[in-house]
Amino acid sequence: MADGAVREAERSKCYNRPVILAIETSCDDTCAAIVAPDGRRALSNVVHTQTEHARYGGVVPEVASRAHLERLDGVVQKALSDADLSLDEVGSIAVTTRPGLIGALLVGVAAAKSLAYARQLPLVPVNHLEGHVAAAYLADPTLEPPFVALIASGGHTALYSVTPDYKMNLLGETLDDAAGEALDKGARMLGLGFPGGPAISRAAHDGDRDRHEFPIGLRDRNNLDFSFSGLKTSLLYKLKEMDREQLHEELPHLAAGYQAAVVEALSRKLLRAIDLHDAPAAVVAGGVAANTSLRQTLELECAKAGTRLVIPPPDLCTDNAAMIGAAAPYSVTISYPEYLSLNARSV
Ligand code: KG4
Ligand code: ZN
Repeated sequence: MADGAVREAERSKCYNRPVILAIETSCDDTCAAIVAPDGRRALSNVVHTQTEHARYGGVVPEVASRAHLERLDGVVQKALSDADLSLDEVGSIAVTTRPGLIGALLVGVAAAKSLAYARQLPLVPVNHLEGHVAAAYLADPTLEPPFVALIASGGHTALYSVTPDYKMNLLGETLDDAAGEALDKGARMLGLGFPGGPAISRAAHDGDRDRHEFPIGLRDRNNLDFSFSGLKTSLLYKLKEMDREQLHEELPHLAAGYQAAVVEALSRKLLRAIDLHDAPAAVVAGGVAANTSLRQTLELECAKAGTRLVIPPPDLCTDNAAMIGAAAPYSVTISYPEYLSLNARSV
C-alpha cells in the first residue's frame, strides 16, 4: 500500500474507535491533542506557547492562567480540526491534573470536566511527569517497559524505573534546581533569552566547552541524585571577574562549558541507572531532552552499552498534550459524572 493509503487506513481505524482528546495547561504552553485509543499515535498536537513571559525572564503564574483561559477553546478546536474529527468522535478526555502551576492547571481541568460532563464522557486525570515518559510510546509504538526513564524539564529532574505494569518508581532526583531551571538561570546570567535551554544551546554552537571548568554536581557520589546549584554559583563567580568585553568574547565558551556540565551530569546518572538496574532500554523526556548535545551524547553512550534508547522528537519532549493522551491508557479513568469534584494539585 502506498504511504497515503496506509495513513488513510490507519485514520479510518481510529474513526471506528473513539479517540482521546487530551488537554495540557500545567505551565506556559496551552496544549490540546487527539490521540488514538491505544495511546500510541497522535492524530493532532497543537501547542500555543505563551510569549507573554519572555519580557519577565521567567513564567509569571497569573499571566499563564489568564493566557490559558483566552487560548484554550481555540487550541482544542484546532486539535479537532487538524485531526479532521468532531467532538462526537471523542471517546474520553485526558487532562493534566498535577504537578504544575495551580492556576494554570485549573483552567485545563475545568475545561476538561465541562467538556466531558456535557458529552457524558469519561475523564482521565494524568500526571504531567507520566505524560513526559509516555511521549516515548508515541516516538516508538513498540516500546514496552521495563526501562529506566530520565525526566529533565524546567520543573523536574528525576530518574525512574518503569516496571512492566507501567508503574514509575523514583530512583533519584535533583536536590536543588532542575536541569532546565539551571539552564534558564544560566542563560539569564549570560544575558541570553528565555527559555534558556535553547538560548544556551545556540550560544554554545562555536564555543570550546573545555575553556572554562564547571563543576558536575554529585559526580562521584554513588547515588542517582543530581545537583545543579554549584554549577550556577560557579558561573556567577566567573562572570564577576569579567568586564563586558571579556563576557562578549567568552560567551560561546561559557555557554558551551555550562551546557556540557548539565549534559554530563544527566548522562552520567542515566548510564549509572541503566547499569544498576540492568535496564534493556532507556527513555529520556522533558524539555531538556530536546537538547542536541544531550541527545548526541546519549545516542553514542547507549549504542556502546547496547541499550535501546528512546528520546522523543523535540516537539514531543517539550510540553504538549499528545504525551498526556499517550499516558491515558495507563492512568485511572473516572466514569461520568464522578469527576465533578476532581481537583488540580500543584505537587
Ligand atoms: O518540559 P518542559 O517544556 O516544561 C516543564 O515541564 O518544565 O521543559 C522546559 C525546559 C526549560 O527549562 C527549557 O529551557 C528547557 O526545557 N529546554 C531546553 C531545550 N528546549 C527546552 N533545554 C536545552 N536544550 C533545548 N533545546
Ligand atoms: Zn513538562
